[in-house]
Amino acid sequence: MRLTARLMKVFITRRIPPEGQALLDQAGISEIKRWDSDEPIPKEDLVKGAAGAHGILCLLTDKIDRKLLDAAGKNLKVISTLSVGVDHLDLDEIKKRGIRVGYTPDVLTDATAELAVSLLLTTSRRLPESIEEVKNGGWTSWKPLWMCGYQLSNSTVGIIGLGRIGQAIARRLKPFGVQKFIYTGRQPKPSEASEFQAEFVSVEQLAAQSDFIVVSCALTPETKKLCNKDFFQKMKKTAVFVNISRGDVVNQEDLYKALSNGEIAAAGLDVTSPEPLPTNHPLLSLKNCVILPHIGSATYATRNTMAVIAVKNLLAGLKGEPMPSELKL
Ligand code: NDP
Ligand code: DGY
Repeated sequence: MRLTARLMKVFITRRIPPEGQALLDQAGISEIKRWDSDEPIPKEDLVKGAAGAHGILCLLTDKIDRKLLDAAGKNLKVISTLSVGVDHLDLDEIKKRGIRVGYTPDVLTDATAELAVSLLLTTSRRLPESIEEVKNGGWTSWKPLWMCGYQLSNSTVGIIGLGRIGQAIARRLKPFGVQKFIYTGRQPKPSEASEFQAEFVSVEQLAAQSDFIVVSCALTPETKKLCNKDFFQKMKKTAVFVNISRGDVVNQEDLYKALSNGEIAAAGLDVTSPEPLPTNHPLLSLKNCVILPHIGSATYATRNTMAVIAVKNLLAGLKGEPMPSELKL
C-alpha cells in the first residue's frame, strides 16, 4: 500500500542543514517530530520519538538497534541516515523487518578526500607542532633537522579500503609524486586500481611496505580493531598512519603505545572511539598524533547536499518509490 502524505509520521533525530529542512517542510507530511537541537538525542528520547513513525531520519550518532526498532513498531518503512557509513544501523534486524535504508554516498567523497589529504600533510609535516613553536618562542633559528617530517614524493602509500573515498584520496595524492600505491580489501579491484597502478596486497604486506597508510574502509565486524598491536609492529618506524573511516577500526591503546614507543612516526585521526574523545585521553598528550573532530564531510556545500539527499531518500521510502541512494540490503 502506498502511504499518502497525509498519513505520514516522520521522526528527525537532530537539526539538519537548511536546504534539507526546507524540502522536508514543503513535503506535506502530517506529523514531523524532531529533536530540535544540534546535540545528540538521548537514547530514551530517541526511543520515544521513534514510536509509531513511518520514517526516521537519523545521524551516525544514533544507534538504530533492535530495541529502537521494536519501539518504533510496525509502521516503520524507511530509515534515512545522513551519512555514508551505516555501522550504527543493525542491518540484519532492519532487513528482517523489511525496512528500507537510505544513505548518502558519493556526495561527500570529494570533501572527505580533501580532508584526508589535509590531515595526512598536517601530520607528516608536523604543522600543529610547528605553529605552536612559532607562538611559544621555540622558533629560534633555521636549523637543518628541526621540525623535519616525511614527504610524499617517491613514497609508497597503502590504502585500506579502495572504495569511493579511498580512490578519491589516491587520485589527489598521485600528483604529489607517490611512487607506488598498494591497497587491501575483501578482494582485488583491478579496474578501480588500474588508475593508480595500485597493487592488491594483504593487510600485513600493506603495513610492512607503506610509508603512509590511509584507512578508508567501512567499519564491519571484519575491520573492527584491524589496526592493532600486530599491525603497528609491522609498520615502518618512519611511517605515518591516517584514519578517516571509523575510530573502532583502530585499537587506540595499541596505537598510543606504537606512537609513544617510536614504533611508528605519527598518526592523524579524523575519527576516534569514543567520539568525542575525552579531553584527558592519552593520545591527546602526544605531539606526533593529530586528532580532528570527525570533520571529513564538513563543508557547507556537502552537508547541505547530504541533507537534501537524506530527505529525498526518506520521502521516496515513505511513498514506496525508488530512492536517490538506497542501501541494498
Ligand atoms: P565504499 O563502500 O565505497 O568503500 C568502503 C571500502 O571498505 C571498500 O573499498 C571495501 O573494500 C572496504 N572494506 C570492506 N570490508 C573490508 C575489509 N574487511 N578489509 C578492508 N577493507 C574493507 O565507502 P566510502 O568510500 O564511501 O566510505 C568509506 C567509509 O568512510 C564509510 O563507511 C565511513 O565509515 C567513512 N567516512 C568517514 C567520513 C569522515 O567524516 N571521516 C566521511 C565519509 C565516510 P572492498 O571493495 O574490497 O569490499
Ligand atoms: C559518514 O557519512 O559516514 C561520515 O562519517 C560523516 O559524513
